[in-house]
Amino acid sequence: MAKSYEELMGALGRAVFFRPARRRVRDLLSRDAHPQLLVDGHEYPLFDLSMNGISFLSQEGVESWPAGRDSDVTLLLHGREVYRGHGRVARLEPGPRKGVRIGLALVGGFLDLPEILHQDEEGQLETDLRAGPEFWRTRIPQAFQDAVGRAVHFLHFYRRVLDRNEARYRARPARDGDPLADLAHRALAALREPWAEIQRSASRAAVECLDDRTILLASKRLTETLVTPVLSVCPIAHRAYTKPLGYAGDYQVMRYYYNDALEGDSVFAQVFHKFGVEHPLSAGVRTRKGFVVRLMEEEHDRYLARGEAEPVFRVASLGCGPAREVSDFIAQRKGWPGQVAWTLIDQEDEALSIAYNDSHRQLMATGADGALQCLHLSFVQIIRDPSLLPIERGQHFIFATGLFDYLGEAVAQVLIRTLFDQLAVGGLIALGNAMGPNDHFWSPEFILDWTMLYRTREEMLRLGRLLPETAEVNVEIEPGNAYYFLLIRKH
Ligand SMILES: C[S@@+](CC[C@H](N)C(=O)[O-])C[C@H]1O[C@@H](n2cnc3c(N)ncnc32)[C@H](O)[C@@H]1O
Repeated sequence: MAKSYEELMGALGRAVFFRPARRRVRDLLSRDAHPQLLVDGHEYPLFDLSMNGISFLSQEGVESWPAGRDSDVTLLLHGREVYRGHGRVARLEPGPRKGVRIGLALVGGFLDLPEILHQDEEGQLETDLRAGPEFWRTRIPQAFQDAVGRAVHFLHFYRRVLDRNEARYRARPARDGDPLADLAHRALAALREPWAEIQRSASRAAVECLDDRTILLASKRLTETLVTPVLSVCPIAHRAYTKPLGYAGDYQVMRYYYNDALEGDSVFAQVFHKFGVEHPLSAGVRTRKGFVVRLMEEEHDRYLARGEAEPVFRVASLGCGPAREVSDFIAQRKGWPGQVAWTLIDQEDEALSIAYNDSHRQLMATGADGALQCLHLSFVQIIRDPSLLPIERGQHFIFATGLFDYLGEAVAQVLIRTLFDQLAVGGLIALGNAMGPNDHFWSPEFILDWTMLYRTREEMLRLGRLLPETAEVNVEIEPGNAYYFLLIRKH
């Protein structure tokens, strides 16, 4: 199951002293686990668990949970007891909707997480054997089943057609040109619009599934059973769905977007991989990158116009990934008065390594004066302790793309306030977020199990709620029409 961005902790997260990691319930357990936590016989929503503790949400006031209070604890999965013991209140934190999150340290026992996961798998197996696909089929809206059926038919039909013709061209003595490349281009031209239309109509049919969690999970499972396996030969679908780094939008997936090429081991794989990187949200990654490069150039010009004696334009990118914006900026600008100093922050060191390499290559090629500082940090650590950022002076431009789409409103608001405090007077923050509602969410959410928070303009504006009066807040749309940008200027 995908990890949430708040769980991705960067270097400092792996502390020197071993502390059992806390895992969010939704990230650890299966969708069907139905965890039930009983504390002194009353059921509470389980929030997270580790080998030596659990936390849960309570709407009772903090006074009901004095530190040190002892309680009986029982945990059930799939209706079956997997733990029984005692817990002691160890910490209290604010929870959602004015409630509290209570952390219990387990006394004289521990949660055997591998065993609990095994029990979860066993429970799932039993449910699957008992209920089977028919149980779900009757609950999934007919329009959605029809849309998925159409997609499956389309994909299987063209896999056969393309495989057969690829084999035919391979068996034929080579004449002029590259018949396999021709086949791929003919297929791209013929199938692009029909496949896009099938995806749009599946998104429209999927809207009905969103209101009921059980139907949503069943509809996702139907799609993952029927559609995902056919597309798993496409490099982008395989990487995004299997999530080798724990989340879908890793640096390799971003590279597929930026490459925008025919990649894969067969013509079918190449064609549908290319359609994946042409999807509105994927094409939007490229156009939003162009949008950020343009903003960076405009802010740079604005800064240089101040005519400082030794200009140093300071830029920070949070969740930078391969930081294509930086290498493109250098490649386009080639040179400038003074220096540009970038601080690139990501919880993934492989992403930072690519960002460092690609940006330095451009600096070497152009001879431009740029300084790069790559920080292996999570935004969670920055929120908790902004002094971790080795940034002495305010930044002139701060941006984040592909990050806020995963953050709930409250966390996003706090992070934006933290970033605002790092901004120089006159500076600009630009934060991208996928636009909602839209008619293309079916492919990421249902085929790839890639959940994003699609925000409306009003929801974007709400993210700035903790900003002071001095902040000027606007929302713009990037040229690809897939992402909003929240633009915040400090006066
Ligand atoms: C979808 S990618 C976007 C990368 C880049 N901004 C772009 O648009 O090409 C998201 C990036 O956010 C990073 N990320 C995820 N959670 C993070 C966290 N908690 N702190 C810092 N970076 C994080 C990931 O490692 C990944 O490189």
